[in-house]
Order: sequence, then structure tokens, then C-alpha cells
Amino acid sequence: MLVTLGTRSAPVDLVDLLLECHHRIRRFLALAGALTAGWQDDEIRVTAAQIRRYFADGLPLHVADEDETIAPALAGAPPAVIEAMGQMSREHVEMAPAIERLIDICAQLAADPRQQAALAPTLTATVTELTRRFESHLALEEQMVFPAVLALPHSVREELRGAIQRRRVG
Ligand SMILES: [Fe+2]
Ligand SMILES: [Fe+2]
Repeated sequence: MLVTLGTRSAPVDLVDLLLECHHRIRRFLALAGALTAGWQDDEIRVTAAQIRRYFADGLPLHVADEDETIAPALAGAPPAVIEAMGQMSREHVEMAPAIERLIDICAQLAADPRQQAALAPTLTATVTELTRRFESHLALEEQMVFPAVLALPHSVREELRGAIQRRRVG
């Protein structure tokens, strides 16, 4: 029997990469929410440093993927998708202050875990805000934008995937 084209084991599609980023966002937000009293100082130091690094270094790459690579590629998409992408980009800007706050808190905790109790109220408020914002933000992308990405021709998706991967190797 002939091997059916399209069922080859292309390991990672562009949309898989984007969804992996969403998985990381959810995981690190949950971790930030769990960073409460009762942890050993070393655990707080290491975990806070990981959270800080993800939101300071990793997330901006995902935002750039969406604003600079995905959005232009979908310029010819139906109006509902264009509208969703406009909202997506606005939300990237609107979420930035809370993300900066989380980065700052985690940097302080990584430097001095004994500040945990003093920083806990701000950390909790920040994580609550970001969880609420990201819940609807990620859902919007997963329901409106990513299906449109998946509908692009395979060759275009591969080009975009290359652009996203190049962004990570400098
Ligand atoms: Fe986004
Ligand atoms: Fe996203």
C-alpha cells in the first residue's frame, strides 16, 4: 500500500510549537501561584529564578512570534480572525505591566527568599490578575487564531515555523 501523504510523522507543526508555549505560560503561572509560605528558602530561590527567567526571556519570544510572524501571515484571514488578532496584540500590551511586576517580585524572591511573607500579597494579586487575563487571552488565540494558522498551506506553516525557530537561536 502506498504511504499516504499527510500522515508522515512530521514531529512538530507550527501550531504544536505555539501550544507548547501556552503550556509553559500556564505551568509557570501555576508555579508562581504555588510559591507560598512553607517552601524551603532554596526551593523559593530556584523556582522564583525559573519563573523570572521564563517571563523575562521566554514569553517575549512567544509574543513576538504572534505579533511579528503569525499576525502578518494571516493578513488575508476573515474579519473575525483579524479582529481577534487585534485584540490579541492589544492584550499583549495591556498585560505587560502585570508581567513586569511578576518578574520583579520573582527577582526579589530569587535574591532573598526570606522576603516571601512580605511579598506574598503582591505576588498573589499579580498572579490572580495574570491568570484571569491569560485565561481569556490564550482561549482567544486557541479558538480563533490557531485554527486559522492551521488552515494555512503546509509550506507557509513551515516557513513560519522556521522564522519562529530562528528567533530562538538569535
Ligand atoms: Fe498571545
Ligand atoms: Fe499565545
